Amino acid sequence: MQRQLIKHVLERTDVGAKVTVAGWVRTRRDSKGGFSFIELHDGSSFSGLQIIADGELPNYETDVLSLTIGSAARITGTLTESPGQGQAVEIKAEVVEVFGFADPDDYPLQKKRVSFEHLREIAHLRPRTNTIGAVARVRSALSYATHRFFQERDFLYVHTPLITASDAEGAGEMFRVTNFNPADPPRAEGGAVDYAQDFFGRPAFLAVSGQLNAEAYALALDRVYTFGPTFRAENSNTRRHLAEFWMIEPEMAFADINDNSDLAEDYVKYLVRYVLDNCSDDLEFFNKWVQEGLLDTLAGVVDGSFERITYTEAVDILAASGETFEFPAEWGSDLQSEHERYLTEVAIKKPVIVTDFPFDFKAFYMRRNDDGKTVAAMDVLVPQIGEIVGGSQREERLDVLAESMDIKGMDRDHYWWYLDLRRFGSAPHAGFGLGLERVVQFTTGMQNIRDVIPFPRTPRNVGF
Ligand code: 4AD
Ligand code: MG
Repeated sequence: MQRQLIKHVLERTDVGAKVTVAGWVRTRRDSKGGFSFIELHDGSSFSGLQIIADGELPNYETDVLSLTIGSAARITGTLTESPGQGQAVEIKAEVVEVFGFADPDDYPLQKKRVSFEHLREIAHLRPRTNTIGAVARVRSALSYATHRFFQERDFLYVHTPLITASDAEGAGEMFRVTNFNPADPPRAEGGAVDYAQDFFGRPAFLAVSGQLNAEAYALALDRVYTFGPTFRAENSNTRRHLAEFWMIEPEMAFADINDNSDLAEDYVKYLVRYVLDNCSDDLEFFNKWVQEGLLDTLAGVVDGSFERITYTEAVDILAASGETFEFPAEWGSDLQSEHERYLTEVAIKKPVIVTDFPFDFKAFYMRRNDDGKTVAAMDVLVPQIGEIVGGSQREERLDVLAESMDIKGMDRDHYWWYLDLRRFGSAPHAGFGLGLERVVQFTTGMQNIRDVIPFPRTPRNVGF
């Protein structure tokens, strides 16, 4: 008989039908009357399915009574109306097949609550918990919604490379890719490692962003987006930084910073609406157990419009706040997480798009404004998380871009192909990057970014 996922069985009303399900046991309760209740989960939905296993089953003593938490089994039985609360239907088992038992003395996920910190030490088993399972479903829904959003708007999905020779952000936070023997790399005269002899014939790295390559495609195909892993060797141990994270980067030709802000606002709202509509059981769980008020916050994001202010206005608000920040807010220094949270949670109380940041601490590719001091950058900030999107209008003027690169100490020859895009049919264009994990955090209320990616990579942590 064809096996069905539990989420589909839970929607059925045709009591009396035969069904087969398979999954992992979450609890087993034995009743004095000589039968057992088993709660089975297969990850397809927040709720599990209740199974009634009668003492008359031929393998009741040998198998059913050994079905400990974490055991894997396949069950065929009859769909019946459930007298209990919380579910409409249950299964009266006729065949119970056990694939693998889990020794209760060893299996770490018993009934009691376990901290998220502890679950990170058993990242291979944590998807079997309510919370991490729900996070996985929301993350998948957000990924699917991303493709829907951009495809519906005629953006082409472009695969940008993960191995690169260029630092797209110019921040020097790249992981090197080499196949040299670290104990004995070839050396040039003078003793320096000779990367000319390395695999790619020159230094190579993992990409911090796909943007520069996406720009090349936008300046041919108009609207594109890339969605893939990116890597940053920034040694920051915070609850919102990973060394490997997934980023969605749209890029639009013939677009300016306002078009960019409009797209980012539409996209973030679309994502939130999508999970509200499609992950309601999971979100209700997060609202109840992880972050009180989550559903109200998310509903507010979908209904309201994002505030738009300039960096200069943001600094003025922070300076006038009377608040003592760890890093004082002053014109010329980047907004810190505490500033972003003050703006979104206290001062403005909703998502904020901050534009026109100082050139000094922003990337070389951002379009210089006429004031000579700022660039057409835009960051989207949301409550709890802070920056969720970073983007800009790009510098399309060859001479200005070349000058910006000189000021930032970048080698123009190295970026020759990027400069070429300004030499041949240059056009205004703009784009941004949204960190997938940040939006999973925002929509689930999960505090730590390590708990919203299956196997997090952070400093000193690559074990799974
Ligand atoms: O602001 P960032 O560094 O912008 C870029 O990479 C641009 N090339 C994007 C573009 O214009 N195409 O990163 C964009 C977003 C941030 O807003 C944040 O959500 C996320 O990526 N992000 C990180 N997420 C997790 N861990 C990290 N270390 C992150 N760094 C950035
Ligand atoms: Mg940024």
